[in-house]
Amino acid sequence: MHHLNDAQLLKNFSYINGSWHSSASDIAVNNPATGKLVAKVSNAGIAETELAVKAAKGAFKAWAAKSANERATLLRKWFDLMMANQEDLGRILTLEQGKPLAEAKGEIAYGAAFIEWFSEEGKRVYGDTIPAPAGDKRIVVIKQPIGVVAAITPWNFPNAMIARKAAAALASGCTFVVRPATQTPLSALAMAELAERAGIPAGVFNVVVGDDARGMGKVLTEHKDVAKFTFTGSTAVGKLLISQCAATVKKVSMELGGNAPFIVFDDANIDDAVAGALVSKYRNAGQTCVCTNRILVQEGVLAEFTEKFVAAVKDLSLGDGLTEGVTIGPMISAQAVSEVKKLIDASINQGAKLALGDDETTLGASFLVPSVLTGVTNDMPIANNEIFGPVSPIISFKEESEAIAIANDTEFGLASYFYSRDIGRIWRVAEGLEFGMVGINEGLISNAAAPFGGMKQSGNGREGSKYGLDDYLEIKYLCMGGLDK
Ligand code: SIN
Repeated sequence: MHHLNDAQLLKNFSYINGSWHSSASDIAVNNPATGKLVAKVSNAGIAETELAVKAAKGAFKAWAAKSANERATLLRKWFDLMMANQEDLGRILTLEQGKPLAEAKGEIAYGAAFIEWFSEEGKRVYGDTIPAPAGDKRIVVIKQPIGVVAAITPWNFPNAMIARKAAAALASGCTFVVRPATQTPLSALAMAELAERAGIPAGVFNVVVGDDARGMGKVLTEHKDVAKFTFTGSTAVGKLLISQCAATVKKVSMELGGNAPFIVFDDANIDDAVAGALVSKYRNAGQTCVCTNRILVQEGVLAEFTEKFVAAVKDLSLGDGLTEGVTIGPMISAQAVSEVKKLIDASINQGAKLALGDDETTLGASFLVPSVLTGVTNDMPIANNEIFGPVSPIISFKEESEAIAIANDTEFGLASYFYSRDIGRIWRVAEGLEFGMVGINEGLISNAAAPFGGMKQSGNGREGSKYGLDDYLEIKYLCMGGLDK
């Protein structure tokens, strides 16, 4: 029906303890581009979530006892299978999420790269020896997997946000339960099918799909057998989930909202800055936590940058992600479009000008024409909210210090970007920005080798890179005494 090479990748049930579980009711998964039904998935709930935690607990001892090499071999197989099925996985992802097929296949490669990376990095969980304060003692530090990890993941990256959590957890020796977003469960279930084919043992990787966000979330955050909880999503929901984790003092890692500044200085290469802003802002129709949220342009290059940027945005091709040549897809829902339109309208009321984007589209209610607003100030709704849509507000500034102050004037601290060719300025600005990630003459900073994460209310912990394992490990100190006897 959906032209998959391997129809078995389209699954309709939660995956718990190595088997597929049906439930009494279903969730409809609809294509955001057409509104048409893609598939129905069994609607699991609290009982299935508890079952998944039990399965993960039951599988933990044996999985943790495997050597890092044994786990690496299985993870590598999982990676190979994801890449071998990239076309089908990309198609499933476009159908449920909307992003253009090329971008969806890119996400599959991005997600798989975390599995490859951590399959290798899991072999490098080194301990330590520390000189002891007394001659008859020795201090040794070992690292051990923390236990059962629970995750809640978003709809904007239905594959990669699961892969980068699960890969680090499994490579460390933890077992894993994920509740994917109900809008996009099919990518998660396809990953489970491939995990099974790779030989990952029952109970190690579990996926529970259900629309009882509150009830299932409570199990995942409050269950005594869950040792660590990880979430990617909004700051508001993240705060609630952190508070639910408090009663059992769980280790948490949070990848929350952003409000990324993209600063263009007078000395920047303007064509490079335009290309960087375009990819950073319009990737996934503006629906990423690291998307540029505010473009800050120094007065000397404001006219040139704006003219070139508006022309580049005009060239984007909006449409159904499965249509050849489309470079920007729908938003996740009509509701998401109307939220972004409210931010645009409120900012225009406060004096912003629409330089591009007032055309209505006949494509459907989930589509928003890529837009650019000029004359924006940092106190307008389009600048002080996370937009999560294809709109670029342009703010002008005079001095470097002013740009840094505007950039930092937000409770968020995830990604930031700036363009300059001046080496002194590059260091000053990079060190002055209060963000976990800084793209310097670069608009696309996400990759498996780099530590992804934020400061301030954008969250805590890091995903990817050698630092990504730390969130799934306990440090244990062994004090050996009486060695003189
Ligand atoms: C996100 O939007 O949460 C993730 C974006 C990325 O991995 O680049």
